[in-house]
Amino acid sequence: MKKFTLGNSRENILEIIPERTLKKVLVGDKSIGLLRIENRFHAFQSSCPHKGASLLEGSINQLEEIICPLHQYRFDLKTGSVRAGYCSDLEIYSTELTNKGLIILLP
Ligand code: FES
Repeated sequence: MKKFTLGNSRENILEIIPERTLKKVLVGDKSIGLLRIENRFHAFQSSCPHKGASLLEGSINQLEEIICPLHQYRFDLKTGSVRAGYCSDLEIYSTELTNKGLIILLP
């Protein structure tokens, strides 16, 4: 497990990651997606498990699902489960908002 810290404080993270805006973040040599909803953060693989479209071009619904822009498959951002469509689940990564920034754990 690899641990990365984004930002340098809780306030800093809340400021640089606006709510409901899909962000691409480079952690180590991996590019991942990051989304904040209120004070909850979702970190996930940025390419769709179906055919590899960029989920950063996707949209978010009220159920905290991300919708792929290419074939509209939906993935639960809390669990990674595919909710609509036929492919493997989305890889998601643990996050923790701390006073020292946002911690992201990659396998
Ligand atoms: S590439 Fe994402 S649903 Fe097909």
